[in-house]
Amino acid sequence: MQGQFLTQGPMLEAFEFALARTLGAKNAIVCNSGTAALHLAYLALDLGVDRGLLTSPITFLATASAARMCGAPVVFADVDPVMGNLTPDMVKAALSSTKERIAAVTAIHVGGRPCDMPELRKLTNERGLALIEDACHAPLASYRGLNGESHYVGACAHSDIAVFSFHPIKHVAMGEGGAVLTNDVKIAERVRTLRNHGMTRDPRTWVNAPEPDAPWYYEMHEIGWNYRACEMQCALGLSQLARVEDGIHRRRHIAGQYDRLLSGLNHLTPPPPSEGNVWHLYPIAIDFEAVGKTRGQLMTALAARGIETQVHYIPVNRQPYYESLGANATPGADLYYQRTLSIPMYPGLSDVDVKYIADSIRDVLCY
Ligand SMILES: Cc1ncc(COP(=O)(O)O)c(C=O)c1O
Repeated sequence: MQGQFLTQGPMLEAFEFALARTLGAKNAIVCNSGTAALHLAYLALDLGVDRGLLTSPITFLATASAARMCGAPVVFADVDPVMGNLTPDMVKAALSSTKERIAAVTAIHVGGRPCDMPELRKLTNERGLALIEDACHAPLASYRGLNGESHYVGACAHSDIAVFSFHPIKHVAMGEGGAVLTNDVKIAERVRTLRNHGMTRDPRTWVNAPEPDAPWYYEMHEIGWNYRACEMQCALGLSQLARVEDGIHRRRHIAGQYDRLLSGLNHLTPPPPSEGNVWHLYPIAIDFEAVGKTRGQLMTALAARGIETQVHYIPVNRQPYYESLGANATPGADLYYQRTLSIPMYPGLSDVDVKYIADSIRDVLCY
């Protein structure tokens, strides 16, 4: 009983309740990373050798790796080279050109920009496929439904499962942590069981119980993991969740400032506007050949001015591991990758910082 104050206790329950209520899904299952959340989601959908995943290469490794952990083949659909997101047309094209048996599609809301969920849902329903949202960048991002109504990413109005990461650089930080959100009770129960070694203490599920009332007894019906989050992580997550809207508000303000300060420059394109974006990243697109500097040179020059930048992402199918598996090419993703650079985006940036960053970019690129 005492252990519940350190793990699987009241903080977990409170955090799961608050997440489900804030995002609008019926069930939230908290675990110890976004990768664990993806793995649990794929396990609950029975991905495996004959049940592959279709996803986009513009994402963090984990979106695809978690399917490989289930033994599932991963097929890469191309992305919109401007937005970086998976589109229904690209999914359709990838489904018709692959020989793999695909059971699920994972759409990533890259940088906090929501994908076209209603159309993706329509398409996956027509093909009998599960639809997962990798929403690690996008808590409280929103998109329009078919009748113009607004939906939060995470409410799973047009998906089976949404997955979140609560790594320190994300909107909500737990230190390390993640969550699976779903409206499907069966998926939720399976994810809860798999999170904790596949153990079930529910007498209704027991097949070998020595007696009906056995307080010590548990059973395992399939292999599970220890993906539990501890109470300290959940307490941090809960307090961070209370501040998430303020953070998004600030990020939207910063994005507006960058849009203004970086518009009209040759060979540099700020990210296209999007209504429900929560701006985990602010990725600019630069034609490096035309500006006469490499991306590495620009990043080093900005770092010398104290400005940290990053590239999101090296297309996952370009990783030697996936190349060795014969992963398909995705020219739109390659083009997106060639040009993208994520400049600082976090609520703690002041307006003065934002101006300094924009001025420095102009300076280094000699505008
Ligand atoms: C899009 C995306 N998916 C999955 C993950 C994995 O999350 P975690 O680092 O919490 O395991 C990340 C984390 O960076 C991510 O950005």
